[in-house]
Amino acid sequence: MAETRTGLARGLFAPLGPTYDRYANVLSFGQDPRWRRFLVSRLPVGPEDTVVDVAAGTAAVALELVRQTGCSVVGVDQSREMLEEGRRRIALAAETERVRLVEGSAEELPFEDACFDGLMAAYLLRYLDDLAAGLRELARVVRPGATAALLDFGVPPGVVQRTAWDLWVDLGLPVLGRAISPGWHEVGRFLGRSIREFDRSWPVPRLAATMRESGFADVEVRRLSLGGCTVLWGRRA
Ligand SMILES: C[S@@+](CC[C@H](N)C(=O)[O-])C[C@H]1O[C@@H](n2cnc3c(N)ncnc32)[C@H](O)[C@@H]1O
Repeated sequence: MAETRTGLARGLFAPLGPTYDRYANVLSFGQDPRWRRFLVSRLPVGPEDTVVDVAAGTAAVALELVRQTGCSVVGVDQSREMLEEGRRRIALAAETERVRLVEGSAEELPFEDACFDGLMAAYLLRYLDDLAAGLRELARVVRPGATAALLDFGVPPGVVQRTAWDLWVDLGLPVLGRAISPGWHEVGRFLGRSIREFDRSWPVPRLAATMRESGFADVEVRRLSLGGCTVLWGRRA
């Protein structure tokens, strides 16, 4: 039987926890922190609010949101190893009161309906086996009027940028990944294929339309770094 995307993500991220933050930055050409800050800036939340961070990984986005807004965050991720590193980072940042991590699947979130004041998910969409059902599940857990902000890699549309991007994902990433560790080599070989396949199946207008059909209104899109990253956000209808 073909492996599911969720199963693939489980194997891919298991060895990465301790080194994830350092190299995610390098492999995104140093753009990742800027993309995260933009994602977080889409969420109109404050100290009284609780936001869910789906596919929270090592809690980098959760900690960024807490720093910017003072809200509380519940992070959920299917990878025990990534969460372990996340808990270490939360303790280091002295944010154990405001950031909590739980193990769970984005496809079946372990939360009641409409219980969050906001939602964010960075680099989750490509790993969902059924994207529309996944978006409906995200919509389920946020209260009406609350904002959800989603981020993933994109393929730059311009010819020159696309050529540079192709070189980076086909040559740069695998070579750099191999120099770091076997786990990162796997990521380096996987990423270009995964991003291209996602872009072909879910061009940005289709992605935005599916977000609307899944229960979000006023959906907006911003492509960052010449299209290397796509951020979508909208209000729970
Ligand atoms: C590239 S990491 C991003 C982590 C974090 N959002 C960040 O930006 O640093 C992707 C994360 O998605 C998680 N993930 C993938 N599929 C998932 C699913 N179906 N349910 C929960 N987590 C998932 C992986 O375990 C991994 O931690």
